[in-house]
Amino acid sequence: MTEIHRDVAAFRARLERARREGLRVGLVPTMGALHDGHLSLVREARARAEFVAATIFVNPTQFGPSEDLARYPRDLDGDVAKLATVGCDAVLSPPVEQMYPRGERTRVTVGELGDTLCGPHRPGHFEGVATVVTKLFAIAGEHTAVFGRKDYQQLAIIRRLAVDLLLPVTVIGAATVRDPDGLAMSSRNAYLSSTERDRALSLSRGLRAAHALFSSGERRASALREAALSPVQAAATSVDYVDVACPETLRVLSGDERVGARALVAIAARVGATRLIDNVVLGEEGAP
Ligand code: PAJ
Repeated sequence: MTEIHRDVAAFRARLERARREGLRVGLVPTMGALHDGHLSLVREARARAEFVAATIFVNPTQFGPSEDLARYPRDLDGDVAKLATVGCDAVLSPPVEQMYPRGERTRVTVGELGDTLCGPHRPGHFEGVATVVTKLFAIAGEHTAVFGRKDYQQLAIIRRLAVDLLLPVTVIGAATVRDPDGLAMSSRNAYLSSTERDRALSLSRGLRAAHALFSSGERRASALREAALSPVQAAATSVDYVDVACPETLRVLSGDERVGARALVAIAARVGATRLIDNVVLGEEGAP
């Protein structure tokens, strides 16, 4: 049975009780519209904790004014049913007024990790993410939190904030779950028509091309970037970026630089009206 909590205080008390009973707590923050990628995070949490909770909260502060907050897919009953199948013990789905009390002003800023890749294309986004994740970490107390590598920059920012703000949270990154044809699972894939879905495959195809080139010994950032970019450019409606970056600092490598033993290749592109992201760390992960 998966308990559903609307109330932050009751959820906090539930996790405190679990810890008093000697159970380690695992947490999987989400915005709902759950797919197998999200469920894999719950399984990962289960492997590390005896009491696993998920949060479902479509966080308004991480959406820009022209983004999809109003139409973001919502299906609480369906989500809870899915969570029950993977052994999730409790869910928090709080009202906005509890997460953002009347008169609220405080925000968590993220520094340079938010200045590259998606940062310039989504002003305020990572500040909104960092703010809500800090609130969720504060609610949940000491725990292990699991996030997906699909949102690589988000994961890096959250690792940093847990350390910087001295939070008693161990942050774990879990592998990107893909459909059999390579498309990274995303709640936003629900927006794609079938022809758009075909075009969306260009992101994983680009990553595969860069991966193959890296495996054949290529280390020039420009060549790796070109390999990833070309299928995306051919199929996407517009390309926000295709970048080769340092996996730790997220600094984008310029064309004439060479990558080291590992390199992040990250893509953000629009197919129709849908913004999609994907990434791979060369030298660390298998081909997407
Ligand atoms: P959401 O997009 O719902 O994603 C919740 C978690 O699922 C994130 O850690 C994300 O990286 C992970 N995830 C999404 N698709 C995945 C996939 N295909 N494989 C593996 N993991 C995947 O990310 C957010 O929500 C929000 O920004 C949040 C962190 C909850 C803050 O509001």
